[in-house]
Amino acid sequence: MESHVEKMKKMMKGSKPVPLPEFDGVFYPSFIPFREKGAEKALQDITNFQSRDTDIMICTYAKSGTHWINEITSMLIRRTPELDTASKTMTMLETISDFSITDTLPSPRLLNTHCLFQYLPKKHIENRNKIIHMIRNPKDTCVSYYHHATKDQVFLSFTGSWNEFFDMWISANCAYGSWYTYEKEIEQAEKDYPGMIFTCSYEEMKKEPTKGIRKLSDFLQIECTDKTIEDIAKATSFENMKENKVDHTAVADGKSHIYRKGIIGDWKNHFTVAQNEQFDSQFAEKFQDSSYRILFE
Ligand code: A3P
Repeated sequence: MESHVEKMKKMMKGSKPVPLPEFDGVFYPSFIPFREKGAEKALQDITNFQSRDTDIMICTYAKSGTHWINEITSMLIRRTPELDTASKTMTMLETISDFSITDTLPSPRLLNTHCLFQYLPKKHIENRNKIIHMIRNPKDTCVSYYHHATKDQVFLSFTGSWNEFFDMWISANCAYGSWYTYEKEIEQAEKDYPGMIFTCSYEEMKKEPTKGIRKLSDFLQIECTDKTIEDIAKATSFENMKENKVDHTAVADGKSHIYRKGIIGDWKNHFTVAQNEQFDSQFAEKFQDSSYRILFE
């Protein structure tokens, strides 16, 4: 499973940024499959991925806490509060050129993607396999994405300022496109496929991790003692993951840019008053009919 991550690391050292691949009006990070096959074919391949009926998929818009919820889920599946030696990137569908490497994984496989619901493996949906969705205050998501983009120029081709990134995010021109489209698709899927999707919020998980982890273990039908849940909450705290989780995508200097601040409300350190007003008015217009409640702290 290391091989495509090793390939990515080599590429990050030696490559220059390229224009982001695009399909159907949406840009994507220039991950190897997207560079090699083009965005349309790379997405088709994800849709045709041969799911097992025990696969579990983590689905998030980029920078919503994917590594965190992936680790929590992995611990629940393995029934241990030990950090997984495998990284989330090893099972991130859009980074894998040859899916046969996932054949060797034991069941249940824990997979993840930031691609829209419409591109998820058909078989995963047909089987009604479990999906775990974490949603985060989009203002913090945008800020987190900005910091990630400045560190990941090979795949995201971004060299601009915060103001430029803000404009790109709000006009859905960043990789993976519109946060609104992403969240609305998955919200609709919750209605279309009752019981298939577990949605949790980054902010609620941060405030009451044991409660959130218990709800997730119930969804996964994994029996856990209160002690195990508490141990998982401690082991997946931001501080412990930042200190001890190996990030295989860390760039040449070996530093991870995934575990940055891990707080609620960092947007207040970035948004100008005008940007906040622009964001609020777009949010009110595009998300007024959503049943997802976002905690704007
Ligand atoms: P910040 O950049 O705001 O710090 P993703 O995994 O989807 O790329 O999301 C990364 C964001 O989740 C980063 O946010 C990161 O710090 C935060 N994060 C990672 N692990 C976390 C944890 N254990 N608890 C809380 N936040 C975490």
